Amino acid sequence: MVSANDFMPLDGWDHLELWVGNAKLAAYFYEHAFGFTRTAYAGPETGVRDRASYVLEQGDIRLVLTSGLRSDSDITRFACAHGDGAKDIAIAVPDAEHAYRETVERGARGVVEPHWVEDEHGRVQLASIATYGEVVHTFVNRSEYGGAYLPGYRPEASQNGAPGGIGLRAIDHVVGNVELGKMDHWVEFYERTMGFTNIIHFGDDQIQTDYSALMSKVMADGGGKIKFPINEPAEGKRKSQIDEYLEYNEGPGVQHIALATEDIVGTVEALRSRGMIFLSTPEAYYADAPGRVGEILEDWDDLKRLRILVDRDDDGYLLQIFTKTAQDRPTLFFEVIERHGARGFGEGNFKALFEAIEREQALRGNL
Ligand code: FE2
Repeated sequence: MVSANDFMPLDGWDHLELWVGNAKLAAYFYEHAFGFTRTAYAGPETGVRDRASYVLEQGDIRLVLTSGLRSDSDITRFACAHGDGAKDIAIAVPDAEHAYRETVERGARGVVEPHWVEDEHGRVQLASIATYGEVVHTFVNRSEYGGAYLPGYRPEASQNGAPGGIGLRAIDHVVGNVELGKMDHWVEFYERTMGFTNIIHFGDDQIQTDYSALMSKVMADGGGKIKFPINEPAEGKRKSQIDEYLEYNEGPGVQHIALATEDIVGTVEALRSRGMIFLSTPEAYYADAPGRVGEILEDWDDLKRLRILVDRDDDGYLLQIFTKTAQDRPTLFFEVIERHGARGFGEGNFKALFEAIEREQALRGNL
């Protein structure tokens, strides 16, 4: 059998870059509320004239926050059009030129041609292709680099975050919202250009409430390191949360970023004490959950107190919780997830989650 990765070897996630209106303030938010540590910076002080970028790390997660410094900047225009949001879902590869050539040959649109950037710490190979909306995938080969992040960045050691982090370990999955009828287009895009396979499919029969519904397919690379669920709206009685996202984001984009922890009770306790605001879950959820999920290692009282959701599939169970949106527009939000064997995405929780999201949507007058 030919492995999906034969033409497109991947090493995992490299980083996520958000383009935002004010990266300096956004960096404080991700440091204070999420406990990230600032590790690198690029801007006018390092000779970059048109932007400021802050690199934050926790565990294996690397988050880059960038804002433009001029009105004619593409970054400024992006933040103006979409609000703060994910611009680059960057993937670590052994050979960025190979990844670029293979994906472009298979129909991906090239955005930045393969090239090397270098400084005294070595060199990094980069190339970018377009995906849904204005989001790109940058292929990064940093195997020959020993610097803080990339050439042009200086190391930073800010004390704003939590020393050692609050238990966030890795990116678990990154979800895209695309227009009605476009989900299969992007599923096919990841199949064709990267050799990903569709590992899970949810129909509107599984993910719906009285008001909204969505369709979702999860694309994953052969090694299971990268997971991209892709959602499209489905017909409901009222405007679905995906429609609301598409309206406020002015097009497709990243809906949520899921961060993995190995101690969700401790991580969520720390997040809450640092001011993070999560979607609320109805009391009734915890009356039904133990019967639905069965035996787990965690204490149900902790899960109920912290409003952590639980779901079980054929392979095990998972715990998860969703933040409220991280900016004024009802667009990007975060998930914290702990897996105990389960390879799903909390399908059993979708209805509870949807009802919580719809309460928020109703408060905004958009339901
Ligand atoms: Fe998720």
